[in-house]
Amino acid sequence: MKLSARLAALAGSSALVIGALAGAVPATAAPAGATAAPDISVANVKQHLTDLSTIAANNGGNRAHGRPGYKASIDFVKAKLDAVGFTTSVQQFTYNGTTGYNLIADWPGGDPNQVIMSGAHLDSVTSGAGMNDNGSGSAAVLEAALTVARSGYQPSKHLRFGWWGAEELGLVGSKYYVNNLPTAERSKVKGYLNFDMIGSPNPGYFVYDDDPTIEQTFKTYFSGIGVPTEIETEGDGRSDHASFKNVGIPVGGLFTGASRVKSSAQVSKWGGTATAFDRCYHSSCDTLSNINDTALDRNSDAIAHAIWTLSGTSTPPTGKVFENTADVAIPDSPGAAVTSTVNVTGVTGNAPSNLSVGVDIVHTYKGDLVVDLIAPDGSVYNLHNRTGGSADNIVQTYTVNASSEVANGAWKLRAQDIASADTGYINGFKLTFP
Ligand code: TRP
Ligand code: ZN
Ligand code: CA
Repeated sequence: MKLSARLAALAGSSALVIGALAGAVPATAAPAGATAAPDISVANVKQHLTDLSTIAANNGGNRAHGRPGYKASIDFVKAKLDAVGFTTSVQQFTYNGTTGYNLIADWPGGDPNQVIMSGAHLDSVTSGAGMNDNGSGSAAVLEAALTVARSGYQPSKHLRFGWWGAEELGLVGSKYYVNNLPTAERSKVKGYLNFDMIGSPNPGYFVYDDDPTIEQTFKTYFSGIGVPTEIETEGDGRSDHASFKNVGIPVGGLFTGASRVKSSAQVSKWGGTATAFDRCYHSSCDTLSNINDTALDRNSDAIAHAIWTLSGTSTPPTGKVFENTADVAIPDSPGAAVTSTVNVTGVTGNAPSNLSVGVDIVHTYKGDLVVDLIAPDGSVYNLHNRTGGSADNIVQTYTVNASSEVANGAWKLRAQDIASADTGYINGFKLTFP
């Protein structure tokens, strides 16, 4: 992340919070004890959809079970998750004489006995690319998972994500997953959230009427943004949540409508026309243009709200500390910038939004100094920019939003003296990961 203009205004305050994830504005107030969910970038969700569309185009026009476009979709989602620190596994099954695949992704950490799982079916029907059904749910769940990683979220419960094969042939992949989950493991799954068709071109806003806590969590989100919802009635049990519900796991989910026709009352409520919610349901016109961006955006944010709310508070700090106490002389102006390095290892995923940066600089005039934190990829976070006048020494802990940086690697504290006469040295540099 690049140094933002906000910094100039903030520089000099005693605890700086520097930078922000693009678009990572808290979408809703957090319940007591929980962290507010970040905004999900609908642009990123749409990019995943575009990639899935390209995969279909390059593989005979669909992403159906047993066809090459399905396996290519699995490989695509898996690579994205592997790159940000998820533990992924591909589960194989056989149906109709061909191999099917589920993708399971676990976010390291959280209570292993309390799992919150979110999922979407990744297969399409053979007639088309399946962008609303169910590129929409697949892409939104993917972006929610990537946002967990980017924000360094450490929930108290364990987060798991699933992409199911062969849903269109009778919930085959999700049934296979729950049937092969030992009873003890099933009982650890405290909630399964399903997202199948969440960007219908003539959308309604439907919430599954199942587990009351999950249902209320979604309703609270939508009432907070002033969007009325209705209970989903276009075929209860017609998607993968049924597989989980059948073995006693609490379920919930969102849906924007399939082939059913929007009533005039629903048109008054949500806009659109009194035609099918998705006139391209299961047909070749379920392409990228068969998506309502507003519905996709709202539902993506609702997914994040539910995941963050249901998974609880951030865990207490693990307190991983990396420190360099070797002295580094800072030459008087006009002198080169000098650095002190700490090598961070063994931290999963990205750095946190509250990286604690301990700076200990002995100097006779702190107004001479510019001090920056440099991430392993070279991104610069300014910590001190000549404020404080003739006061001596900088002994201070700064809080830096480093959530767009990969944690592991060589982090540097850089100091430069840009006014002559007074001098000093870096006495210590310490990074604390929560
Ligand atoms: N994939 C589902 C199907 O083809 C779509 C669907 C229909 C659905 N009705 C639903 C999904 C209700 C969730 C809830 O049957
Ligand atoms: Zn579907
Ligand atoms: Ca000086």
